[in-house]
Amino acid sequence: MRVRDLIIWACLSALVLFAPAVQASVSVVDLLSSSPDFTLLVRVLQRSGLIPVLNMGRNITFFAPTNEVLSKVPPSVDLPTLLEYLIITDPIVSTEMEDDYRVYFSHLRSPSSSDYPVPIKVKHVQAQPGEPSDGTGKRLVVGSANVVRHDWIADNGVIQVVDSLVEIPDTLCHALSRLANGPGVMQFFAQLFVQHPWICILLAESEDTATVLLPTNAAFTHFSPIELNYLVSTAGHDDRLKLIGEHFMYSPLYRQNDTTGEGNDYPLLSGNMLHAAATEDGKIRFNNEVDTIETDILFQNGVMHTLPSLIVPWTYFAFTPLKYLYGIGAVKFAEELIFHKYRPTLVDAQILQTIFAPIDSDGSDSPSSEKTLGYHFVDYPITELLPGVIPSRLQPSSMNWYHQRIKVTTQGGATYVNGAARVLRDPVVIGNTAIVPIDRPLEMPPKMSLAAGTVVGGSTMMEFMRNLDIFNEPDLRGWTVFFPNDAAWSALGSVTKYFKKKPEMARQLLLSLMITQPLYSVDFTTEITDYETAFGSRIGLKTGKDAKKLSFVSTVTQAEDDVELADTDLLFESGVIHVLGSVPIPEYIEITPRQLLDAEGIYVFVDLLEATELHTDVLADDSQYVILAPVDAALNFEKITTATLNLATQLGLHILRRRNLRSGRFIDGESAFDSLVPGISITVLEAEGQGPDSEDQILSIYNRPANSWRFEPVRILSKGMTSSGAEIYVVDTVMPMSALVVADGRSWWQRHGVLIALGAAAGIIVISMVSLGWFWIIYQGGRNWNHNRSFANNVKSIVQFRNGLSGSNGLGHTLLSSDDSDSDSNDADDEDEEDAASAVGEGTPFLRQASGTLGSRVTGDEETDEEAEEAEHVEMRGGR
Ligand SMILES: *[C@@H]1O[C@H](CO)[C@@H](O)[C@H](O)[C@H]1NC(C)=O
Ligand SMILES: *[C@@H]1O[C@H](CO)[C@@H](O)[C@H](O)[C@H]1NC(C)=O
Repeated sequence: MRVRDLIIWACLSALVLFAPAVQASVSVVDLLSSSPDFTLLVRVLQRSGLIPVLNMGRNITFFAPTNEVLSKVPPSVDLPTLLEYLIITDPIVSTEMEDDYRVYFSHLRSPSSSDYPVPIKVKHVQAQPGEPSDGTGKRLVVGSANVVRHDWIADNGVIQVVDSLVEIPDTLCHALSRLANGPGVMQFFAQLFVQHPWICILLAESEDTATVLLPTNAAFTHFSPIELNYLVSTAGHDDRLKLIGEHFMYSPLYRQNDTTGEGNDYPLLSGNMLHAAATEDGKIRFNNEVDTIETDILFQNGVMHTLPSLIVPWTYFAFTPLKYLYGIGAVKFAEELIFHKYRPTLVDAQILQTIFAPIDSDGSDSPSSEKTLGYHFVDYPITELLPGVIPSRLQPSSMNWYHQRIKVTTQGGATYVNGAARVLRDPVVIGNTAIVPIDRPLEMPPKMSLAAGTVVGGSTMMEFMRNLDIFNEPDLRGWTVFFPNDAAWSALGSVTKYFKKKPEMARQLLLSLMITQPLYSVDFTTEITDYETAFGSRIGLKTGKDAKKLSFVSTVTQAEDDVELADTDLLFESGVIHVLGSVPIPEYIEITPRQLLDAEGIYVFVDLLEATELHTDVLADDSQYVILAPVDAALNFEKITTATLNLATQLGLHILRRRNLRSGRFIDGESAFDSLVPGISITVLEAEGQGPDSEDQILSIYNRPANSWRFEPVRILSKGMTSSGAEIYVVDTVMPMSALVVADGRSWWQRHGVLIALGAAAGIIVISMVSLGWFWIIYQGGRNWNHNRSFANNVKSIVQFRNGLSGSNGLGHTLLSSDDSDSDSNDADDEDEEDAASAVGEGTPFLRQASGTLGSRVTGDEETDEEAEEAEHVEMRGGR
């Protein structure tokens, strides 16, 4: 009974409690109307026609702004739309909400996507003390608005009173273009995205919705700047689209779509599937590895999630040399390459190669012929570009199918390729390919005539080559050209004149200085290597420790000729030029005294030598004499003919012999050379300010037995050396016969100097008379040797020489002097020397150069003579 009563009581109680609700339901609008806080809201709702929506709706939520909020809204605002956005088609009761946040859908349809309710995010957060809460310490936040009165429950829904209106979100595409324009951590991907506006156009046209997975800029740090450049470039279109396709899907994907926590697969724009699962900590995990940074960023027509990295790995893009060419901005060049069927070598990153890539620039044309394109490739990767020559992939017929080279130089901290093209940065490596960005296309090495024209001091050689038509030599393909500079040719003196007079010999010499294969400075080693010359001979080449020197080695005698390399690796169309500081003359080109005298136009002197039979020895092909050859005019002026008295003695003053192998060249002035006239020796005094190779040096003539010396104005006009070592000096005056009597002249000065010192005034008259007597005797002597001029010259030149010592230029004057220490020189010495000289032959170097020494030409050595000479030399220097 008690139980039944209890049930009845309970039923009655329930009736009493719920009857009014069942009978007269209270709607959301009823509740709002009952409160003075919402009079304004109700009026606006009426005017906007939203009352029926709120009345008819079931299980709705209305985020209701108070009068206070509405009164502050500027008139420009579309209040009806904003209020409709706040009508949610689901019941949201704060005290029942489990998630931290949830995406709900408004009654408002997106203007961009009419089927699609605009989403709104409602957060369920912890209320701070003093903040309005739902009674359980939590509160709701909707968009930027806070709920200030929670869970006001009507029969058809819930009212949550808010402190502000909530802005309607943007469309996805607007948002992306804003991100692309402004700075920000999501800018880069947005920039890629907006480059394909058709995605947005399609989205708008079809009134569709979408999800964008937006990697932040940090996701691209794996990419090099070049790769990023490529991705945004026109050429990067396909890869960019692929990348976007991996991060975009139609239909919105929210975290709450994964209701089980197991995740689901969704199709991406790319066609690939994306696995998305909600994580415990409120994020979405894609493909089991990428967690969102910010989740469920809402838009009118979709949703966005930001990611710390890409959905796809870096290798997804399969970067190739071609993509890198686009990335560094060498687009024109890349397109030129593709046009000329270079694609296979550009799309395979495994190919070992280096590409010199001219980047696009206004005004400069990219290389257009297939030939010059190949010149931009090297068949191995260069990771560090150092000065030198590099073989290009190009093997033109002009190089006899050898690889044409590329020359790398540095200047002022910058690196240049083939002179003009500047290297813009260190090589960029992709796979096995290195790419060197340069500021303009490489120019092919020029024609030989142009390359030779750039050689500093190359005019002599240019003249030879032009005259001998070397530039048009049909066989000249892939050759190495050794190119002696002007200094080298001028050092050869008369020898150069000889070659200029004898084109067939010059041709022989030039061809023997060319190797029939290209050799670059890197090819020269310390090991002697044999090469074939264009003349058909063979030659050995090697470098010493000093790479600035090249040794030309005879394949016959093994004699070495060290030549200075003035410049190396000047590339031209069909070979390479190395500039030499001297001329290595091969052994098979013989230079004889007669050839040089002929080249210098010395005819009278030669005739006189023949008349006196001196020529058989002096002008022999293997002569080793030093020949002071007066020009024809000088001999004519002095009226020296075959009829001249003592002609052999006169000529003998012009023929000198070195005493031993240390004598050096006559012109060096290191020692005295004996003339054929016994007792008369001659040396060169160094003139002030004159180098050892100057033609304007002072000759010093000794009259040894007479202990005397004097000067004569003798000028060396030209010089040359024969193969056998004879030195020929063209001089402007005849050696004076007065040298033979100059001893008397000196005694005269000495004796009368002493007499004057004694101070005998009356003696002056005597002196004068005696002097007159001496003058007469000398005058007679001079006339006897048909040499009147010399004495007067002698007196004058002493004065001039002294002037020279006191600062003025003593250039071009001859010094005659004698030396006590060497006065015991005798004929026996001379005979020994001749023996030594005649023993010369094996020691003759295969190649000579004007700057070489004569040391090796004399095999014998005279101890005593050498000492005597040294002593003499010291005294000579001391006396000066
Ligand atoms: C309102 O929601 C409750 C539970 O949330 C549900 O049972 C009821 O069917 C809903 N009413 C309408 C009209 O959708
Ligand atoms: C996720 O859920 C919403 C409804 O909450 C739905 O409209 C949408 O299509 C779902 N997304 C996907 C990718 O299925």
